[in-house]
Amino acid sequence: MISTADVIASLRARDIENIGHGPLYRRLQTAIKAVIDDGILKVDDALPSERDLANELGISRVTVRNAMRALVEEGVLVQRHGAGTFVAPRVEQALSRLTSFTEDMITRGMKPGAVWIEKTLGHASPEEAMALNLSPGTEVTRLRRLRTANDKPMALEYAVVPRAFLPSPDEVEKSLYDALAKYGKKPERALQRLRAELFDGETAKILGVPDGSAALYIERRSFLANGTPVEFTRSYYRGDSYDFIAEMQVDAR
Ligand code: GLP
Repeated sequence: MISTADVIASLRARDIENIGHGPLYRRLQTAIKAVIDDGILKVDDALPSERDLANELGISRVTVRNAMRALVEEGVLVQRHGAGTFVAPRVEQALSRLTSFTEDMITRGMKPGAVWIEKTLGHASPEEAMALNLSPGTEVTRLRRLRTANDKPMALEYAVVPRAFLPSPDEVEKSLYDALAKYGKKPERALQRLRAELFDGETAKILGVPDGSAALYIERRSFLANGTPVEFTRSYYRGDSYDFIAEMQVDAR
């Protein structure tokens, strides 16, 4: 467990007045995040009290409170009643098991949720047709959802499924994979591509993070047992909440 003095020293070293941009509380917010990203403050570590931070850093308590509140809203910190403010746990997802968002969250003891942004029927764009191995213009079902865990925004997900496998977006209540399973079309294998991006203004707003914060862009194409593509999903996960874990082995000789 890191001491209050060490946290304060790490924050001072980040030169709060000159880090990031915007009002002072935003700069303090950036500095606290940097201390977490650098692994100095770890998951479940307590933050120094509002009073200690204000006194030691020579800034007002209101500034400290605003920075903490913004970090709680971002999901970087959690407030525990009567106990203080702590670094929030990150969600870890294994890269080798094909699981749904709903399963991932339940495994972690969190309540999965979705807020609908779009549910429509349409015709595959050239990119979607290529990803799903369809002729351009084939009918597809589209779902755009904000995925939440314990009501906190986690990812923005845009799934496209051939209509032949999912006749209507209304079939999806909570989980796309559960809906596909009802038709015997739950994916058995998937290819996933990940890359780092920055959230643009609109996506950042939906996810409740500052414009330009780190995102993990994930594209998943999943397939039925016979190799037919069943899903093409583009997701933006919050870079500050997700870890993807891959287990690796040397080749057997
Ligand atoms: C993950 C994947 C998506 C997939 C989704 C299904 O989030 N990245 O490609 O569509 O899980 O989750 P659910 O069945 O909860 O809708």
